[in-house]
Amino acid sequence: MRKISLKQVTINGFKSFRDAPPVVLSGGSGLCFLGGDNQVDKRLGANGAGKSALWDAICWCFFGVSVRGKKTAALLNEQHGKKIEVEVELDIDGEGFSVLRQGPPDRIALDGEIVDEGKLVALLGLTRARFLQSVLFGQAVPLFYDLSIPERGELLDEVLDLGLWLQLADLAGARTRNVEQLRQEAQRTTANHVGRVTTLREQNDFEAQKAEWASAQERKIEECLDEVMEIEKEISECKAQRRDAKKRLAAFKDSVDGKRLHDLKKAKARLDVESGELLQSIRADYEQLTFFQKHLTCPTCKQRINSVLKERKMQLLTERVEQLNAESQQNAHKSIQLLKEVNQLENDVTKHQRKCQHYEQIVEQATTDIRRHMRRFDALEDTLNALSKEVNPYARQQQRVEKALHEAEQELEKAQEQEAQLTARQAVLEYWKQGFKRVRLFLVKRILLQLEIETANAANMLGLVGWKISYVTEVANKSGTMKPGMQILVTAPDTAQAREWSPGELQRVRIASAIGLASMIQRMAGVIYNFEVWDEPSNWLSTEGIEDLLECLRTRASAMQRRIWVVDHRAPIFTGFSEYWRATKTKHGTTISRIGT
Ligand SMILES: Nc1ncnc2c1ncn2[C@@H]1O[C@H](COP(=O)(O)OP(=O)(O)OP(=O)(O)O)[C@@H](O)[C@H]1O
Ligand SMILES: [Mg+2]
Repeated sequence: MRKISLKQVTINGFKSFRDAPPVVLSGGSGLCFLGGDNQVDKRLGANGAGKSALWDAICWCFFGVSVRGKKTAALLNEQHGKKIEVEVELDIDGEGFSVLRQGPPDRIALDGEIVDEGKLVALLGLTRARFLQSVLFGQAVPLFYDLSIPERGELLDEVLDLGLWLQLADLAGARTRNVEQLRQEAQRTTANHVGRVTTLREQNDFEAQKAEWASAQERKIEECLDEVMEIEKEISECKAQRRDAKKRLAAFKDSVDGKRLHDLKKAKARLDVESGELLQSIRADYEQLTFFQKHLTCPTCKQRINSVLKERKMQLLTERVEQLNAESQQNAHKSIQLLKEVNQLENDVTKHQRKCQHYEQIVEQATTDIRRHMRRFDALEDTLNALSKEVNPYARQQQRVEKALHEAEQELEKAQEQEAQLTARQAVLEYWKQGFKRVRLFLVKRILLQLEIETANAANMLGLVGWKISYVTEVANKSGTMKPGMQILVTAPDTAQAREWSPGELQRVRIASAIGLASMIQRMAGVIYNFEVWDEPSNWLSTEGIEDLLECLRTRASAMQRRIWVVDHRAPIFTGFSEYWRATKTKHGTTISRIGT
């Protein structure tokens, strides 16, 4: 436990303080009285002297606002200037610390080093709310007991940070609603994906169409191949025909004996020449014969032609004519034979030539046909190529659908996973929505038990021996909602019943519960403040009541080894104070001084 004690305070420009000298507040344990003297307005007596302002300044220095929550601008001394400066010197576990706040704008220096509020709170161990319920019981700030039942619950939440659990429960509730919304969205998304997957699965039936297309394609290819074979056959037939025609043509060309025809023609011509010559010879001989028959003398020499010679000549001539005639007839015969033969041959040649032409036409036709067939063949080959390259459109369609299906299934899986995650998250949040409340309830019960123990200690010290001050807090109803607030039940040893307690009794109960809470706060924070301030605690108390209260606080001061400050505007009649202090306000501002023991 860290022990924190107050050493000195220097206040400038805060409320009624101007350039006040430092106030040394350290000292031994005991009850210290702080009264007031308002010299500016004497009619007010001790009121408005600056008693509360002293502690307010400490509160402001620590937390940046006054006990009643006023901010810097409202706390500036009207006459002094534009700046407040409060320095509080502390002793923490034997080590001196200086906390200096200046403002506005607010600036905190811890031992001369600028720090943030968080660092200061960490050093002090208490937040403002905790400080005001465990160290400084401010003027007109109601004690725990004085609060209404819901206000006590709120205060407990604030002081002990229990609100955190309700905030967490609310947060879990908000998140649950949020997650529920997301889960419903995810559910809708899943349903959409399921629908899409189902539709795509139904669509993904291309086997029949694919097979139909494939067999149609096969038929087309087969038809093409049939045609190709047909054409090949036709081409080979054409080629055979052409070959045959060429062969025949060659054979015919070879078979036509042109040489013989030539020779025959030549022989005939020779024969005709010979025949001509023979005829000329015959004619000449015949003319001689006729001469000799007609003439007895030589026309040239006019001599008589010897009859013997004539006879002889005529015989010779006759014989030669006959011979030549025979030869001529033979020649004529031969010529006729040759002519026949030539005619025959020429006929044959003509026939051959016609046949050849015929075969040549066949060859030409076959070549044209082959070319035509080849063209068709090429076209069919192209068609076949194209057909073999063609992709089944249903396969492509199926691929597309399968891809879409795969994607849709993946998305479905993702959506289902997300939905499952959200469902699980929702279950966790649902659990924690109640869980945080249960944690809070558990903590509250533990805290209340501790508070009861601390209060019982304080009550004992305040003379309420055997009294039971118990705290009843909210309980969770069946639906899990909390009934906030806190009741304080007080029973005296002689009765278990609550009754209307006297103001003095109640004052002790008030102080006991405030001290109980204060002790618990400091214990939980791990700090012990060796000073405590009670600003105007005696309001609306009777003289006896005040006596009782002060006696209680005195006992507490000595039991706890604390300096307990009682700030009051009335002159003290109580004699148990160990020190007397005064806040004096003059036209120069408030000063604090110790006036006696
Ligand atoms: N901003 C300010 N500038 C100057 N004076 C101020 C300022 N704010 C408050 N005061 C004055 O400071 C004085 C001190 O007030 P404080 O509350 O400390 O009086 P007190 O001594 O506690 O009186 P009481 O007995 O009534 O509680 C008051 O007269 C008040 O009017
Ligand atoms: Mg006051």
